Amino acid sequence: MLAPPAWTHDRLHDLITTRLAGVKFIVVSNREPYMHRYGEGGEAEWIFTAGGLATALRPILMASKGTWIAHGAGDADRGTVDEHDRISVPPDNPCYTLRRVWLTREQEERYYYGFANEGLWPLCHITFTRPAFRLADWESYQEVNRLFAQAVIEEAGDGPAIVFIQDYHFCLLPRMLKDMGKPNLTVAQFWHIPWPNHDMFRPCPWKSELVDGMLGNDLLGFHIRNHCQNFLETVDRSVEARTDREKWHVSRGGRTTAIRPFPISIDYAEDVARAESPEVAAAMEKWRRKLRLKDRLLGAGIERLDYTKGIPERLRALDLFLEQHPEWHRKFVFLQIAAPSRTHIPAYQAVEDEIEGLVEHINWRWGRDGWLPVEFLKQHHGPTDMIALHRLSRFFLVNSLHDGMNLVAKEFVASRVDEDGVLILSRFTGAFRELDSAIGVNPFAIHETADAIHQALTMEQPERMARMRKMRECVAVNNVYRWAGKILSHVMKLDTPELGLNVDIGVE
Ligand code: F6P
Repeated sequence: MLAPPAWTHDRLHDLITTRLAGVKFIVVSNREPYMHRYGEGGEAEWIFTAGGLATALRPILMASKGTWIAHGAGDADRGTVDEHDRISVPPDNPCYTLRRVWLTREQEERYYYGFANEGLWPLCHITFTRPAFRLADWESYQEVNRLFAQAVIEEAGDGPAIVFIQDYHFCLLPRMLKDMGKPNLTVAQFWHIPWPNHDMFRPCPWKSELVDGMLGNDLLGFHIRNHCQNFLETVDRSVEARTDREKWHVSRGGRTTAIRPFPISIDYAEDVARAESPEVAAAMEKWRRKLRLKDRLLGAGIERLDYTKGIPERLRALDLFLEQHPEWHRKFVFLQIAAPSRTHIPAYQAVEDEIEGLVEHINWRWGRDGWLPVEFLKQHHGPTDMIALHRLSRFFLVNSLHDGMNLVAKEFVASRVDEDGVLILSRFTGAFRELDSAIGVNPFAIHETADAIHQALTMEQPERMARMRKMRECVAVNNVYRWAGKILSHVMKLDTPELGLNVDIGVE
């Protein structure tokens, strides 16, 4: 039997332009794909925003040419939009619309930092950071969800539209949209973080309202089956609804919401092409010099500076490794890059201080004759630098305490066009279910990560390459176009009067 054709940018584009011709495609997220900010010379400049969501959705919008609605958070954002708050992006190759929504300082403080990131984020990640639920944050969260609902209605116009909502910032938006009386909106949502079991979700004082809001969706996606099952359990125990665990759907108030796992991914082909580019080769040379690598091996970790990523645990593991393996002193360098994130929140400030203290401690304890075992850069880096560092690393460390997926691990694998390099990966990431040829670790067990570092540094090339090949094959097939293609095909299969399609195009 012939293998089904691979998912590519063009195949997704064809699906949207042929099967969904005349249907508007609208993505909603808090984080915008590109941000404008004032540079040192006072000129507006644009950057790629950090984080898995923007990385995954950017290629989808390129293929669909739809509209992306997001919070305009850059200090130069307002100066770059038209009178309808729209701008064509990507800034260097405009081909779809970004509609920016403006929030007041107070809304940002309460809805984004407060309810979303001090409430729902720790609640769902279970990393022993207590969630905080404040009434004023909740009120702001409702207000901002209404603001976005208004923007969606404006962008949707009169014809049929698929609204694809992202993440935990918009639990109320699906229901609001359905209640706004516009008959031809099909609403789907993807939850980018874990969904915990009901006992962990219980402390949220507005859990029924959140669940009810999410049941306004026609389709609700999580990364893995376990998160779907946790969600169904939460529904059963917090609202009046009928859950069907065979068909994976929930009925409430005459509406049905399908619940499905869709493991998110990356644009594998684009990362491969970039990894082979002269720009990446030049960046590799730059980093070799900057890190004074010579014949030293490189280990690296790159992510947002977030307490869920396990950076202090990683540094403690390095410290233990250096204690146990003096034979490796001076023979490798570990580079930790952390893009500043949510710095306004005390738990983020605390983890940053902890990381700085640990780096100082390790370098003081083990550094000799100009060799420092750890380099720490608290800075956002673009894709060229990141891929160059992936390519230079003997091992790449992703030891998140809990992560819905973790696309950084998949990006590392895609960058390794030489099929070399070792991935050390937390078993508590969604990615570990697919990348099981990585060295798996329990991130809370420091000794396991220390052992994994030793295993990575001493692993022979044939084993490194065999493991890497397996992981690359997996990510090549399960790329972000397949993720989007499967979600859209599922939307088309739904028997929603809004879209009137109800076609099964048989996508696997
Ligand atoms: O992984 C969860 C998530 O919200 C992503 O969806 C997003 O890419 C990332 O965190 C970044 O967070 P923020 O947009 O708050 O910087």
